[in-house]
Amino acid sequence: MRVTGEGIWGEPKDRAESLRTLRRLPELQVDFIDTADSYGPFVSEDLIAEALAPYKGIVVATKGGLTRHGPGIWLPVGRPEYLRQCVLMSLRRLKVEQIGLWQLHRIDPKVPRDEQFGVIADMLKEGLIKHAGLSQVSVEDIEAARKVFPVASVQNLYNLIDRTSEDVLDYCTAQGIGFIPWFPLAAGDLAKPGTALDAIVAKTGATPSQIALAWMLKRSPVMLPIPGTGKVAHLEDNVRAAGLVLSDEDFRALDAQARKVSA
Ligand SMILES: NC(=O)c1ccc[n+]([C@@H]2O[C@H](COP(=O)([O-])OP(=O)(O)OC[C@H]3O[C@@H](n4cnc5c(N)ncnc54)[C@H](OP(=O)(O)O)[C@@H]3O)[C@@H](O)[C@H]2O)c1
Repeated sequence: MRVTGEGIWGEPKDRAESLRTLRRLPELQVDFIDTADSYGPFVSEDLIAEALAPYKGIVVATKGGLTRHGPGIWLPVGRPEYLRQCVLMSLRRLKVEQIGLWQLHRIDPKVPRDEQFGVIADMLKEGLIKHAGLSQVSVEDIEAARKVFPVASVQNLYNLIDRTSEDVLDYCTAQGIGFIPWFPLAAGDLAKPGTALDAIVAKTGATPSQIALAWMLKRSPVMLPIPGTGKVAHLEDNVRAAGLVLSDEDFRALDAQARKVSA
């Protein structure tokens, strides 16, 4: 999402740096990228294909179902024929014959959700998509969808200080569904001097963002963080978080303080 322009609209300010960032991914052994047709729109998928097709082991997860009418404007359209077009056009832009993981970006409240789930089930059967997921949903939505197709992943807003989707994460953990937290880097007030996070920063030398990521990786075995960046240096910083293992004590201290801040 961060390899596009301001408001996730149009070309990025520094196209060459965006391409360098994407090309650095395989060198860092990153094998999963999250995008959407609506990022740009189309800019992100086009850049990913330009930098990385034919991918060699990298799974590019994309999404469809949100239309764009300007910077920062996102409007859901969940009519089955539109969702099918989203998938067909993402296949073309990403230059693949099958999408490894396709996610319904939002359930459109104007269209019966079973119609949206139904076309996803059809596209899975037809092999246009290998796995399918949902985004910004409740446990009840996931259970309704699972009656129609196997839900491989759920992408909800989740980070150290925004734990609104805690119940969804617990459900995904119990059911073995991949949980892809978006906006994962937020450490907010916890990153200020004098907090548990601040103490762990001092002890480990890691950045608040890296600790926020390490905390999430310890939180659940189904967690798949997707920190967003259009800069090589930030990508390298974020990937380092995968090697940072928090002690149980630090994990609990962060958890307790984050719950207080977000309460
Ligand atoms: N499903 C949904 O509805 C939904 C909604 C939003 C996002 N997403 C997905 O989630 C991904 C992440 O979300 P996000 O980008 O909003 O949140 P994020 O990953 O928490 O934060 C990204 C922001 O942090 C900056 N950043 C990244 N690494 C940094 C570092 N090491 N040091 C300092 N700043 C750093 C980035 O700017 P620079 O580019 O300057 O590094 C960017 O502005 C997106 O790429 C997208 O795929 C999904």
